[in-house]
Amino acid sequence: MNKVKKALIPAAGLGTRFLPATKTIPKEMLPIVDQPILLYIVEEAVRAGIEDIILVSGRGKSAIEDFFDCSYEVEDLLSKTGKVEMVDRLKNIRNMANIISIRQKEALGLGHAVACGSPIIGKDNFAVLLGDEIMYSAVSEPTVTEQLTNVFSETGLSTVAVMQVEPDQVEKYGIVAGEKNSAGQIQITDVVEKPKKETAPSRYALPGRYVFTAQIFDSLKNAKPGKNGEIQLTDAMTDVAKKYGMLGSEFKAKRFDAGDKLGYLMANIEIALMREDLSSDLRTYLKKLVPTL
Ligand code: UTP
Repeated sequence: MNKVKKALIPAAGLGTRFLPATKTIPKEMLPIVDQPILLYIVEEAVRAGIEDIILVSGRGKSAIEDFFDCSYEVEDLLSKTGKVEMVDRLKNIRNMANIISIRQKEALGLGHAVACGSPIIGKDNFAVLLGDEIMYSAVSEPTVTEQLTNVFSETGLSTVAVMQVEPDQVEKYGIVAGEKNSAGQIQITDVVEKPKKETAPSRYALPGRYVFTAQIFDSLKNAKPGKNGEIQLTDAMTDVAKKYGMLGSEFKAKRFDAGDKLGYLMANIEIALMREDLSSDLRTYLKKLVPTL
């Protein structure tokens, strides 16, 4: 059965681009409007039917685990002061999925973080959602993870989200090589980590959403550490693509790279503009501000 019920969220990186904030606050817990980046990501997974969420966290990041636990004092105070809606919201967060936490003891790269989930995931198919990439889709639309699991359930092949980027952007991403099939998906033959624009095999970049079969774990075991001693997920993906096949699927959603300062600010503005409680006042403020720029 090509069902996907587990998702892994790597959130053990050091978040150096957000220092000094990330000295004590995990990057994944920085708020976009009033909820942490990580909650948008968990919500995306849950909307796709994921039941078990494996959070890969690291030293100094216990705020991540605490966030999905009961906050007894706050809930008690809110109940006593009649703030029932917020109590329900907090309860919802801790009950929305089975949250399973595992530590990556050293930040040895994304490939290594994914491999940390192997004892929990076993032989199951699973999704990976990067802990600092927000894919915003309307409630009436399928999330990116659901778009990928739909392709996976039809084909049984590992399927990853791809998006076209400008030539000067390719060196920020993993870039896939391959031809489009009749269904419009890319039959991936190779994945290159952060290539120069002159040597990039295409402009199709990986924005951080994947559905894998457990075959990826064998490939990760054999992956050699590259730059900075990191195990690259892209090397293991190339191995799976060559041995078993892998699809690259374009997606429909508004993507924010919230791990980057500018992307983080954009996410705050755009998501606030989509919120009923904030959009009108923020719009008025922005209209006043823009002519002064
Ligand atoms: P990034 O490369 O964006 O995160 O990884 P980072 O290393 O924390 O960021 P900077 O460049 O130092 O600011 C994408 C996701 O993968 C996780 C990160 O936590 C982030 O959510 N990650 C990365 C791990 O879990 N382990 C790693 O070893 C590396």
